[in-house]
Amino acid sequence: MAHVALPAWVMLAYLISGVCFILALRGLSSPATARKGNRFGILGMGIAVATTLLIEAPVPPGGFLPQPTIDDLQTLAQILIAIALGGAVGLITARRIQMTDMPQLVAAFHSLVGLAAVLVGWAAYLNPAAFGILGLDGAIEPQSRVEMGLGIAIGAITFSGSVIAFLKLAGKMSGAPILLPKRHFINLLLLLAIAFFLYGFFDSQSPIDISLITALSFAIGFLLIIPIGGADMPVVVSMLNSYSGWAAAAMGFTLHNTAMIITGALVGSSGAILSYIMCKAMNRSFISVIAGGFGAEAAVSGEAREQRPWKRGSAEDAAFILEQSENVIIIPGYGMAVAQAQHVLREMGDLLKKAGVNVKYAIHPVAGRMPGHMNVLLAEANVPYDEVFELEDINGEFAQADVAFIIGANDVVNPAAKTDKTSPIYGMPVFDVEKAKTVMFIKRSMAGVGYAGVDNDVFYMDQTMMLLADAKKMVEDIVKALQR
Ligand code: TAP
Repeated sequence: MAHVALPAWVMLAYLISGVCFILALRGLSSPATARKGNRFGILGMGIAVATTLLIEAPVPPGGFLPQPTIDDLQTLAQILIAIALGGAVGLITARRIQMTDMPQLVAAFHSLVGLAAVLVGWAAYLNPAAFGILGLDGAIEPQSRVEMGLGIAIGAITFSGSVIAFLKLAGKMSGAPILLPKRHFINLLLLLAIAFFLYGFFDSQSPIDISLITALSFAIGFLLIIPIGGADMPVVVSMLNSYSGWAAAAMGFTLHNTAMIITGALVGSSGAILSYIMCKAMNRSFISVIAGGFGAEAAVSGEAREQRPWKRGSAEDAAFILEQSENVIIIPGYGMAVAQAQHVLREMGDLLKKAGVNVKYAIHPVAGRMPGHMNVLLAEANVPYDEVFELEDINGEFAQADVAFIIGANDVVNPAAKTDKTSPIYGMPVFDVEKAKTVMFIKRSMAGVGYAGVDNDVFYMDQTMMLLADAKKMVEDIVKALQR
């Protein structure tokens, strides 16, 4: 395929697909419009893929569509088989995956984007004529050398970083930070070395430079992610999402593919914005996230816990207090997702509302295991959107609440984030549940801890009632008690 100026209809088709992607992002910003957004995304990708397939063969002068040769048809068949195989794997995986395993799936998919960028970059390097990037002097065009080097570097960092994120999130390696001595210095040195070889590659197109760029970038991706502890993983996944977008955009330049540049830039910038929002939600510094290993100096938890007295309640006790209340704030967390308790929770909320109780749902930005996890589950259970509140909008109301009803959440209601500088979650804004008159805590046992692995003082407060059971079972029992 020789590189030719793209005809106007191709540019138009790519522009339309870009607009579809923007509408997709807009739709995905709210659970109410997410499905519509997804459809726009599918449409945009369909247009981009079809257009790319149509322009791959050389266009004869004056002709709109070329006469395909046997070679073209064979290539097309190979591409279609690859799309069918990849699509089938994606479809089966998406259907089988539990929502709670979504972050590791996303990390795994990002690793593929990174690897694809590295492979495309290498393919373009090894066969530049096929990519239409050979200059008149027989060398790769200087601009393409820059794009190719950057694309391979970002792709390799994304690949190895995402593999580590996947292994940590899937529990296949310890989520605890691995802190190498002088790691910031080593990372800086590696970055400088990559920059040096990028310049070398730009200058000489040497195979040694591009090999070293690839190897060192794989190494730095690995080193950036291993020091990051479990509690900070959501930000890492979103940051890797952003990296994968930039890798794709850089490859879009190499391949002279506008759709890839637009899509890559959209993914890169929306991932960066999401990382920034999550950093703010967790009170982390954005710069230190990008540098890797942020928050890693904090003590790693899971230490032996002291025995303290706590109070156990039953579903009947809970139902009695809830019915007598004026204001109830429900805080869902990861455990609600595990138990799939959202439907029966909404039933409980409806019964309480019928009894004249003012019910609100409070969602923390990192509750669960992925951004928007709780919003999606509550939307699935048809909880009205106007009853769902973000952290900053509802945190001031706990002092007036009769009950803070915590269902399968732990880290996001842990006051250690406000008071204990040694805690891995220190600095993360949390719900002020301890200000409510009564706190109800649904979890399965006193032994279980949240994602960050830290004990929670709220369990042992005078006004706290521990409701120890599977979340769905406990709420079902509360509903039965309310109906009596
Ligand atoms: P966690 O702190 O993980 O607490 C989950 C709670 O649910 C635990 O108390 C657990 O106790 C309980 N639980 C688990 N299964 C249950 C079941 N079937 N029935 C009843 N209770 C159950 O959850 P959170 O408060 O939602 O906080 C989220 C944490 O995950 C944060 O640290 C966050 O940084 C991290 N994280 C978030 C994301 C995103 S983007 N949301 C992604 C990755 C990580 P038992 O085991 O005793 O039942």
